[in-house]
Amino acid sequence: MTEQQHPNRATEAFFGRRKGKPLRERQAEGMATLLPALKLDLQSEAPAELSELFPVSVEELRLEIGFGGGEHLVHRARENPQTGFIGIEPFVNSMAKLLSRVDELELKNIRVYDDDATQALDWLPDASLDHIDLLYPDPWPKRKHWKRRFVSQVNLDRFHRVLKPGGMFCFASDIDTYVNWTLIHCRNHGGFEWLADQSSDWLTPFAGWPGTRYENKARREGRSSAYLTFRKV
Ligand SMILES: C[S@@+](CC[C@H](N)C(=O)[O-])C[C@H]1O[C@@H](n2cnc3c(N)ncnc32)[C@H](O)[C@@H]1O
Repeated sequence: MTEQQHPNRATEAFFGRRKGKPLRERQAEGMATLLPALKLDLQSEAPAELSELFPVSVEELRLEIGFGGGEHLVHRARENPQTGFIGIEPFVNSMAKLLSRVDELELKNIRVYDDDATQALDWLPDASLDHIDLLYPDPWPKRKHWKRRFVSQVNLDRFHRVLKPGGMFCFASDIDTYVNWTLIHCRNHGGFEWLADQSSDWLTPFAGWPGTRYENKARREGRSSAYLTFRKV
């Protein structure tokens, strides 16, 4: 999706190409069968109880925006079988990879959306999520592109609306200017409390953290990360 295609969405996020290599046969099959079954239907109204989206009983609801390779999402879904996960990723090859894992592991607690997360956020009911993960969002490191970053006042408003009281927003990045950007935006927003007292709180990965593909790349290139946890107030 490009700025040209969405000229009126300057305050929302942008993503790059949506397709890479041709899909393997099994992945193409998953996209044809599993995607329609697991994709959120934004044309219908969201169920008042989001837990109804899942065929198994779930007690908590989590959203991961831009799951990339899906390693973190799959890890969390296996670790928390009684939590329902919504994973959003517009990149076709990444979605296909996730769906193969969901199929292989017979995971019943994942639903997906394959387009801009802002669309799904606007569909979700008020106070419906316990937790939002935004892990290594596209960094847009050049100052002139900072306004394309997913963290913005309008998207923090969206997070605030869909999180339950006391719900968590977790953010990870290896780009210093994005970490500062997020801290400043959350402080200016006023609806999020940063849960950190000392540097180890943002330098230590989240509990049970399996890493992500993008994080591994950052490490290979010599960049460390910050892990920010905010609570909705
Ligand atoms: C830098 S990658 C990180 C992927 C993964 N979280 C990781 O850590 O390996 C950012 C991801 O966010 C996705 N993305 C970008 N804009 C998005 C949007 N508006 N809605 C949902 N996903 C988005 C991209 O397709 C990409 O896969």
